[in-house]
Amino acid sequence: MFVFPLCPQGLTLQLMMAVGTAVIGSLQFGYNTGVINAPQKIIEGFLNDTWNSRYSEPIPTTSLTTLWSISVAIFSVGGIFGSFSVGLFVNCLGRRNSMLIANVLAFIAAGFMGFSKLAASWEMLIIGRFIVGLYSGLSTGFVPMYVGEIAPTSLRGALGTLHQLGIVLGILMAQVFGIESIMGNSTLWPFLLGFTFIPAMLQCILLPFCPESPRFLLINLNEELKAREVLEKLRGTEEVGTDMQEMKEEARQMMREKKVTILELFRSPLYRQPIFIAIMLQLSQQLSGINAVFYYSTRIFEKAGVSQPVYATIGAGVVNTAFTVVSLFVVERAGRRSLHLTGLLGMAFSAVLMTIAMALLDQLPWMSYVSIVAIFSFVAFFEIGPGPIPWFIVAELFSQGPRPSAFAVAGFSNWSANFIVGMTFQYVEQLCGPYVFIIFTVLLLGFFIFTYFKVPETKGRSFDEISAGFRHEGAMKDCEFTIEMCRDRNVVCFIMASWAA
Ligand code: GLC
Repeated sequence: MFVFPLCPQGLTLQLMMAVGTAVIGSLQFGYNTGVINAPQKIIEGFLNDTWNSRYSEPIPTTSLTTLWSISVAIFSVGGIFGSFSVGLFVNCLGRRNSMLIANVLAFIAAGFMGFSKLAASWEMLIIGRFIVGLYSGLSTGFVPMYVGEIAPTSLRGALGTLHQLGIVLGILMAQVFGIESIMGNSTLWPFLLGFTFIPAMLQCILLPFCPESPRFLLINLNEELKAREVLEKLRGTEEVGTDMQEMKEEARQMMREKKVTILELFRSPLYRQPIFIAIMLQLSQQLSGINAVFYYSTRIFEKAGVSQPVYATIGAGVVNTAFTVVSLFVVERAGRRSLHLTGLLGMAFSAVLMTIAMALLDQLPWMSYVSIVAIFSFVAFFEIGPGPIPWFIVAELFSQGPRPSAFAVAGFSNWSANFIVGMTFQYVEQLCGPYVFIIFTVLLLGFFIFTYFKVPETKGRSFDEISAGFRHEGAMKDCEFTIEMCRDRNVVCFIMASWAA
């Protein structure tokens, strides 16, 4: 068994290979998030040409805005459906095979998008974007779940951040390939979109060499021997007693819990608080306005008077990637809560700066530089916390039983908010002009307050310890309720609370 000599304890080749292969799914998600940003004008040209050949007149501006907004936002509609279906797959097929099967969607989507120009059909473009959205929605559940389940506790945050690193690298690749001289031109843009085919193929080749999640093997399938074998390979040691013990404890807990449906997540006092936190963290990620930047940054930079908007967009992608790497290295030391808080506050300040710069642009042309700095710092603070943390914290907030349903609900919230921002940003911007980011500032401050009061630190705690914390609070809540409603039952509650603790 090979263990890297200079790497943090527990980071084996097997583990790196498994995580690296899984995050190809994240890369696909990021690629398809960023891919339509730079070539907006070129693809709008295709929409116009197609309209012209069908109706013998140029496309009216409102139809163009609508068709374009749909092409952008249908991706998130696919994401909504995909993320909501995560539980259907992972419980029957397991984590690894679910990732493998999902690639069928990526191949189909690549076909639809890649041949849309040849077929002179914007419908194919839109259908392809929807299907790759489905794939991406599934990935946003599969990848953090798989990574969270195979990572050792001490590396769970850092490895969890790799999901986000995959996403941002995907965005950056899309931005670079989208440069006019590479593929962002009227001849090659179908290849730019069809490129999705390549990572899908790579993942199909590598996944069969990756192990199934040992938690799934032990807790869901009761295959103790196999689970131990996989764990030994992943950890690079035969001493996996503590991990096995922790998983068995979770399995025992799960037998008491039975299967947890989405409805039960909201009904049971045990899960109500963590699911509320998971939803709010997802909303804080999307309603921060980050995708207003990643879907429309080329236009935002243009409006801010930047002379080479495509390059500024790539600059944003580089900053985005660099700060995800920063987060990767500090998340196990600084903790999730403080990084999320820092990120939200920094984004709020940057949004104010951006607004001032945009508002003063007519009087002071040098404000275009300030707006670049503001957008870059907005993106940097996003990646410090609100980018990576909401994705992997869902795996941490829930034990094996409720985890798939929790991912479905969290993903659904994330993608719905993503859709709302993608669909409405252009219209709201037309309405509010340079003040559009004030809306995000207010939301960011609201999420800061929520995180400050409600989000617990999960760093360094095992899954079982974290859910025991919530069980304890849940039991205490039940207690308060019971004491209020019926005073003579508080002894039972006290016993329940002590047992849960
Ligand atoms: C997060 C978001 C995604 C966004 C990306 C930007 O992963 O979920 O919507 O585009 O970060 O880096």
